[in-house]
Amino acid sequence: MAEKKVRQSRVRKYWPQYKWSNIAAMLKNNRIPPKLCDLDFNGKLVVITGATSGIGYKTARRYAEGGADLIVINRNREKSRALCEEIQRDFKVRCDEIIADLSQLDDMHRAADQLAALERPIDVLIHNAGVYLKKRSVTRDGLETTFAVHFLSSFIINWKLLDKLKRENRARIIFVGSEGYRFAV
Ligand SMILES: NC(=O)c1ccc[n+]([C@@H]2O[C@H](COP(=O)([O-])OP(=O)(O)OC[C@H]3O[C@@H](n4cnc5c(N)ncnc54)[C@H](OP(=O)(O)O)[C@@H]3O)[C@@H](O)[C@H]2O)c1
Repeated sequence: MAEKKVRQSRVRKYWPQYKWSNIAAMLKNNRIPPKLCDLDFNGKLVVITGATSGIGYKTARRYAEGGADLIVINRNREKSRALCEEIQRDFKVRCDEIIADLSQLDDMHRAADQLAALERPIDVLIHNAGVYLKKRSVTRDGLETTFAVHFLSSFIINWKLLDKLKRENRARIIFVGSEGYRFAV
């Protein structure tokens, strides 16, 4: 009950902050067919976190369709294997996996170290893995889960890749974000 009240007051606070012109633009844009990127990604290396479903899955397929090789960072070994098999079968590109639970500090560091040790340059790094939790949850490291998955894992991976990406001077880093944090209790 108390939580519901807090949530309602957050929504009330959030409402006036919203840029209603963005909503109008979004409704208008939704009626326009999306612009499709027809760039050639042959020979590029794209790293995507959380590629087993949703936005990450579609993004992985789209880059692979354009010829990019992928490294996907997923937490579920079976889903990850199935994804890479599908990508390799459909697009004949490389799909390598790093199995890591990005809510766990040791996995974040291990995934980052593996990427940092790659000899091949990274062209695109997409931080997409995310969760939508309605109740507070804490990881075994004692961190709030959304913070760990969405922010800390991206930070640790970027931090450990900083030297490599600067040296290579070609990568783009993309964060898939949300306005949802405003509703957090
Ligand atoms: N969909 C929306 O309307 C929306 C709106 C705003 C922002 N976003 C953001 O967009 C991103 C993708 O959302 P989505 O809707 O595509 O979600 P989704 O379908 O639930 O996909 C989330 C992906 O992240 C992975 N993941 C979750 N926790 C993980 C962890 N601890 N370690 C490693 N991987 C983990 C999931 O793996 P499993 O398959 O193993 O679960 C899955 O591959 C998220 O960051 C989300 O916050 C989405």
